[in-house]
Amino acid sequence: MIKPHGSDALNPLYVADEAKRAELQKEAEGLPKLMVCSQAAANAVMMASGYFNPLTGFMNLADSLAVAENMKTTGGLFWPVPIVNVVEDASAIGDAKRIALLDPNVEGNPVLAIQDVESIEEATDEQMTAMAQKVYGTTDPEHPGVKAFLSVGKCFVAGPIQVLNYSYFAADFPETFRTAVEIREMIAKNGWEKVVAFQTRNPMHRAHEALVKIAMERTGADGAVIHMLLGKLKAGDIPADVRDAAIRKMVELYFEPNTCEITGYGYDMLYAGPREAVLHAVFRQNMGTTHLIVGRDHAGVGDYYGAFDAQTIFDNDVPEGAMELQIFKADHTAFSKVVGDVIMMCEAPDGHKPEEFVFLSGTKVRAMLSAGEDLPPEFARPEVAKILMEYYQSLPQE
Ligand code: ADX
Repeated sequence: MIKPHGSDALNPLYVADEAKRAELQKEAEGLPKLMVCSQAAANAVMMASGYFNPLTGFMNLADSLAVAENMKTTGGLFWPVPIVNVVEDASAIGDAKRIALLDPNVEGNPVLAIQDVESIEEATDEQMTAMAQKVYGTTDPEHPGVKAFLSVGKCFVAGPIQVLNYSYFAADFPETFRTAVEIREMIAKNGWEKVVAFQTRNPMHRAHEALVKIAMERTGADGAVIHMLLGKLKAGDIPADVRDAAIRKMVELYFEPNTCEITGYGYDMLYAGPREAVLHAVFRQNMGTTHLIVGRDHAGVGDYYGAFDAQTIFDNDVPEGAMELQIFKADHTAFSKVVGDVIMMCEAPDGHKPEEFVFLSGTKVRAMLSAGEDLPPEFARPEVAKILMEYYQSLPQE
């Protein structure tokens, strides 16, 4: 199976041994407590799950700056996005060497992890905006990722962690949340060698379905892993439970049995476009898939990125040999009325006109479903549209 990123074996930071976990839980009671931000909690869950192998904890300021600037830690590890625990006020830590990190996303704020405090450093405003510019390609405070990054503070609390649970993800999504360790086991059990991963934060429409099928066929894959984001999204995006139901229905009805696993991971969306695509690739290698589909406006939001910037970053900025996983680059995909199927637009027959494709913007889709109108079957499978319509109709109407 494909090796993890940066090491021979995967090193998840979840403390799997029950007795050891109980001991740490006990220790946590006597430690200074630090309430972390949602992004830091999600970082801990990703490290717990093995997705962020070979990281052993939160990055310090020097590594964060180096990663933002060159996609490399000061030690030379290829890594595309700073993985940090940033807080407004670190005074509760005092000179403690170990602290308990509290989970902001679970009622009662239980202890999520114990961290060794290696350093506490305050970044300057210039350093914060420089990192935002590099990672998100903008410092616009309206960008949802930039907004999240610049609103939680400037104190970088760095050091290794031991993680005690998977936050709300395991409890809320028992059928779907999977660690990188579990996905590796799943792939091995299925006897798959070539495996395509599909990142998504949306329900899957016909274009998404076709992308997975085309990628499987052209790479000669034995199977596909649909890997959906289960963490926080911007307002207006569809909640994970609704997406999960829609995706399960689509796979059940429209995929060959035993060719596609439906899974999810516990992370908040960054909307960092190209840099997030590279992070996506790194953690898909960690979960044992050999290919990642990167299509149009991958991990994008608004007009911040060019439609295919998340593909060109792999050609221009990811050094040769930085990762083993390969990218399956997909062109804009849509249903062609001429061909009678979903195709990549660059492969349309000569003379094909743009209006012969079936396009619907997200806004249009929302408006139609809220009004109880069916989506065209060329755009969405009717069974999927039904689940989405029920969701939109359950929302307070504007
Ligand atoms: S994302 O933020 O998780 O990337 P989304 O769930 O919409 O958003 O997309 C999942 C994957 O499908 C991404 O690789 C994206 O580029 C790709 N994609 C979505 N729609 C299309 C489309 N119509 N044509 C080509 N690629 C697409």
